[in-house]
Amino acid sequence: MTSRLVLGIESSCDETAAAVVEAGREVRSSVIHSQVEEHARYGGVVPEIAGRSHLRAILPAVDGALSQAGVDLDDLAGIAVTNRPGLVGSLLVGLSTAKALAFTRGLPLVGVHHIEAHVYAATMGAAVGEVRFPCVALVASGGHSAVYQADGPLSMGQLATTRDDAAGEAFDKVAHLLGLPYPGGPSVSKLAEEGDPRAIRFPRYRAKDGGLGFSFSGLKTAVLYHIRGGDALAPTPEPEDIEARADVAASFQEAVVDALVETTLRAARERGIDQVLVAGGVACNLRLRERMAERAVEEGVQSFFPAPAWCTDNAVMIAGLGWHRLLSGELDGLALDASPR
Ligand code: KG4
Ligand code: ZN
Repeated sequence: MTSRLVLGIESSCDETAAAVVEAGREVRSSVIHSQVEEHARYGGVVPEIAGRSHLRAILPAVDGALSQAGVDLDDLAGIAVTNRPGLVGSLLVGLSTAKALAFTRGLPLVGVHHIEAHVYAATMGAAVGEVRFPCVALVASGGHSAVYQADGPLSMGQLATTRDDAAGEAFDKVAHLLGLPYPGGPSVSKLAEEGDPRAIRFPRYRAKDGGLGFSFSGLKTAVLYHIRGGDALAPTPEPEDIEARADVAASFQEAVVDALVETTLRAARERGIDQVLVAGGVACNLRLRERMAERAVEEGVQSFFPAPAWCTDNAVMIAGLGWHRLLSGELDGLALDASPR
């Protein structure tokens, strides 16, 4: 393999992305077409709209990534594509494109696990050699909240996951209750800056068996009851009539951050691991970064965060992790399938 360039393609949710990355680290180009505006009025991702939007955006994204990098398909070592998990109709758009390109140019093809790629993104953000394996990685996004033990880029095992909503999804739902725009993470955290995080003590989930795990649907319900004045059967007030809305936002954010930080650090402690990574869209949250950094120091653990641009969905992380798959020689054929899980 003389070339070290990988084209990465990502279409698992509501971003159509393509990127060229050299040797798993050096970003040569990155194109991201976000569908946020197409889904905003529905308050969440609508699968049918996502699939159709990917179809329109995928070829311009691939062309853009190749031309920004100043390379041609024939310069590539291979193509990496997200094939799981995600919305199947959306995944298939990226996967079919990757297969067609690989087939026509005779290029190797590798399928990449989206969440593992989020973890890999956190290792790309740090200086070379800084992140040692094994490490514990939190991936919190609109679709996932999970803690992994990463023994290497290609060796990751899940230690904890959510039994219901993802952390980002909780932000999106609470934003809706508070009359804030979608996506909820940025809008709730902006309002939270004006509020008191200790004003309301929202519940923190603990698994009954003492195991590691997340649950955010009870928290969302607690916010709903709180804004109804503690009366579950009362009507939901209009957002402008909610008392101390900023305190609700700040206290809710604190409860999510607390759960994410404490579970991740507990996983690290139980495994005897002294490095934690934070990845996924929710890793953009400044309070999460601040609290994780503080608590990690107290626990004698090092913490790492990717630059915000590499926290949300992108194809750089797909091309980056794809390089390691190519090197390992574990190639996928054209029979590679998309999977929601
Ligand atoms: O990783 P991502 O782009 O897509 C998925 O794979 O889901 O994450 C998007 C999620 C959304 O739910 C959004 O509300 C959340 O990340 N998010 C945030 C922030 N920025 C984005 N959540 C909390 N605080 C933020 N600043
Ligand atoms: Zn993601």
